[in-house]
Order: sequence, then C-alpha cells, then structure tokens
Amino acid sequence: MYQRREITTQERLQQEQYCQKIRTLIAHRPHYALVDTYGCQQNESDSEILRGWLTQCGYGLTDDEDKADLIAVNTCAVREHAEKRVLGNVGALNHKKAKNPDLIVCVGGCMTQQPVMREKIKNSYQVVDLAFGPHELWQFPELLLAAMERRHRRGGKRRLIAAEPSEGVVAEGLPRQRDSAVKAWLSIMNGCDNFCSYCIVPYVRGRERSRHPGDVIAEAKALVAAGYKDITLLGQNVNSYGKGLEEGVDFPDLLAELDRIPGDYVLRFMTSHPKDATEKLFKVMGESEHCAHHIHLPLQSGSDRILREMNRHYDRAKYLEKVAAARKYMPDLVLTTDIIVGFPGETEADFEDTLSLVEEVRYDAMFTFIFSPRAGTPAAAMPDPVTRAEKQVWFDRLLDLSNHISGEKHAAYVGRTVRVLVDGETGQSPYNLSSRTKGGRLVHLSGDTALVGQFIDVKITDSTTWALYGEPV
Ligand code: SAH
Ligand code: SF4
Ligand code: F3S
Repeated sequence: MYQRREITTQERLQQEQYCQKIRTLIAHRPHYALVDTYGCQQNESDSEILRGWLTQCGYGLTDDEDKADLIAVNTCAVREHAEKRVLGNVGALNHKKAKNPDLIVCVGGCMTQQPVMREKIKNSYQVVDLAFGPHELWQFPELLLAAMERRHRRGGKRRLIAAEPSEGVVAEGLPRQRDSAVKAWLSIMNGCDNFCSYCIVPYVRGRERSRHPGDVIAEAKALVAAGYKDITLLGQNVNSYGKGLEEGVDFPDLLAELDRIPGDYVLRFMTSHPKDATEKLFKVMGESEHCAHHIHLPLQSGSDRILREMNRHYDRAKYLEKVAAARKYMPDLVLTTDIIVGFPGETEADFEDTLSLVEEVRYDAMFTFIFSPRAGTPAAAMPDPVTRAEKQVWFDRLLDLSNHISGEKHAAYVGRTVRVLVDGETGQSPYNLSSRTKGGRLVHLSGDTALVGQFIDVKITDSTTWALYGEPV
C-alpha cells in the first residue's frame, strides 16, 4: 500500500554525517566524480542532487572519465534503446576499472528500480559497486559509504545492490549542484498515477506525490533572488499537482502564486497530461506576467481506438477542444507534443488519424518514438503484428510531416524582432550563443558572452527545422 513518507530534518542531517565520514576517507588526495545522465528532465534534476551530495562528500566534479575516482550513471528505462545504451556504457567501464581498481561505479535512476534489471546488474555487471533507485536518492551518502566499506571486506557481499521498492518519499533540503546559472529545474512533484498502458514510469517512479506549495514557493523565491532567469517546474504530470495535499492547491493556483514573485524571469513547466489540462490553467497562463506561452501536450496518437488502448482518458475531439481553448487565451502559443508510432494493433487507418490530427494542430515541434515494449506494462502483452520495418515507414512519414511544419513555422519568424533570454555558449562560431524565446524556441546568436543571462531583443535572420538564427539589435 502506498504511503507518503516525508523525510525528517533529523534523517537528512544524518546523511550529512555520512558525507563527513566519506570526506575523511578520501581526504588524503583530491578525488573526482563524474555523473552521466540519461532520460528526461526529472533525471537531469536528480543528477544535480547527486552532484550536490558528491560535492558534500568531498569530491570535485569532472567530465573526464580517466580522471574520475567515482562514476555515477543516472539511468532511464522508458524505451529499450535507452537501456541498451546504458548497459553498453556501464559494461565498457570494465576497462577503466582494470586500469584503476579503486574506481567506484554507481548506477542509479529508473532502470535500477526494475527487479529484472537489478538481477541483471547483480549477476552480469560485476563492475557496479552500488546500484540504487530514484527513491533512495535522499540517502545516497549512506549507501555510498556502505558500498565503500564493502569493497574492502574479505568475506560476504562486496557490492551493494539497493533499490528496494520504497515508494512515496518526499525529501526537502537536499543539496544540489546546479548545471547552469541562468536556467533552473524546480521539481514540484514526483511519480505518476496514470498508468498509460505502454509506460514504465509509474512502476519505477512510484505513485504521484506533490511537494508542499510553501516549499516550492520558497525554492522559487530563492532561485529568483539568486539571479536565475528561466525556471522550469517539473513533474510527470504537473496538471495533477496538489492531489492529496491538505493545502487544497491545484496546479493553476500554484502557477498564479509563483507568478507573483517579482523579478525578470520566465516560468515554464513539463509535462502536461491533456486529460488534466484545464481552461483554468490556460487562463492563468494567458494572464500571467512570467509564464511562457508554451505547452508540451503529449498527444501519443490521433486515433480514438488507440488512445483508448493506451488508457489516455481523452479522445481526438477532447484533445482538439483543449488546443482551441489554450489558443484562445494565448494566440501566440507554442505547442509541442510526443507521439508514439506502432502501438500494438495500430493500423494504417489509425496512423492516418495521427497524421491528420498533426496537420490540423500544426505543432511547433514534435518528439516521435517507435513503440518499445516495456516488461510488466499491459501493452507489452498485446498482440503486435506490424513489423519493425513497417513501423519505421510510418515513423519516417510522420517525421517528414513534422519537419515540414516546424520548418514553415520557423521560417515565419524571419525578419521579426523577438525578445530572448541568452542562456549559454554553444562553443561554435559564428553562432556562439544560444538563447530562447519566451515560447521556448531556440535562437542561435553571435554576440558578446557577457550577454549570457540577459534578456535582449534579436532580429531573426535565418531558420531551419530545429532552430532560428538571429542578431542582437
Ligand atoms: N509524463 C510524460 C511522459 C514521460 S515519457 C507525459 O505523460 O507526457 C516521454 C514520452 O516517451 C512519452 O510521452 C511517450 O511519447 C514516450 N514513451 C513512453 N513510453 C514509451 C514506450 N514504451 N515506447 C515508446 N515511447 C514511449
Ligand atoms: Fe507515462 Fe502516462 Fe505517466 Fe506520462 S502520464 S509518465 S506517459 S504513465
Ligand atoms: Fe526515463 Fe525515468 Fe524520466 S524512465 S523518461 S528517466 S522518469
């Protein structure tokens, strides 16, 4: 039975004591850690916490595998392709360990939360010293210390394979080493209750649980005060934020409250489930000062029959209604989506329904995937007669359409002047800076690096399918 469990201050402070112990253990010379991240923004955000813990434990951070004394891989399980890449890369660490037997290898994230993967790591990936799941991130120092002590044991288990299903953890006040000084992730909730029939996320991330609004607002205020300009609220389905909290706050309420924080910054959020995206949300977005006029509204399929099989709880007509409502409140809305091609039992006619919906909506950008069966999900057990090659043909057709529409939408920006936030350097010339419009469109610029972190006006001079190019005016 799912129980929400809030980690106490006492428990957190205990973890800081484990950090102290590790610090002492590695104090004789500088130690370096590398964190390698796969998967979604939630994982990017978790990796910042992992880096926060590692820093508290006394490690310096590095991108160089040869310099690393500890390598932590934060994994994703959403499609088979992601898992294969992770396993290949973890297997390759055998060579590194042969050269440096003191190397510590940790594997965390969604993949390790599956019992079958835990067994696989235990039996076939001896290189791994510590495996842990997303629910155990808050106690990483304790697990790391235990794994370090085991390595020097004579008898007994030499490795620590944790990631027991301990659902429902909510932990505040964990350290975090942010990747950027301009853009910040702000996780507002964890887990998912939707159980879309193809998706592994609810099984590995557990039941939905929201952070208290007071904690979210305090973190947002601190981010704005620290000079962050681009804040992305994160959750598997932010639209059901607040469910089960005694505060009685829903996602639009939270957004409106955050919008009141004074300052020059943009608020974004990921991801919205169409079934829970309400007119109230669109209205709050339209009226807000800081909220980007961008919604990522995953469609998955344009066929009513397939949507039912996917357990998505909306149909074509409902989805189109939501898009129309969103555009009513935000005529300049940037709309993006995810689509799965080749769901079990999908026919040519179902696929045509997806194409026609895409043509009708005209997304600014689309993320398209070929269905990947995930063990333990209902869809993995459904009959799936269409071959991979046939699915690839559909996939390519959809991609062509998507590129065509994005290309046209981008071309329409050329000649216009738009306000962007310069968010980083690209390391390339002549377009050495990257920036984003408030709607989230990527704009490459050439300009002084001192512009990073500033809002500026740029004239769009060129465009491709994926990006816009411009000059500061
Ligand atoms: N919580 C987010 C999605 C997380 S997964 C949401 O509901 O919008 C990101 C995307 O991966 C999904 O939107 C879906 O398009 C895709 N995806 C998830 N499981 C998949 C699978 N088994 N095969 C192929 N694509 C999948
Ligand atoms: Fe997966 Fe559906 Fe939850 Fe998104 S809403 S994480 S697709 S189960
Ligand atoms: Fe992957 Fe886990 Fe995110 S499965 S997509 S990293 S929630």
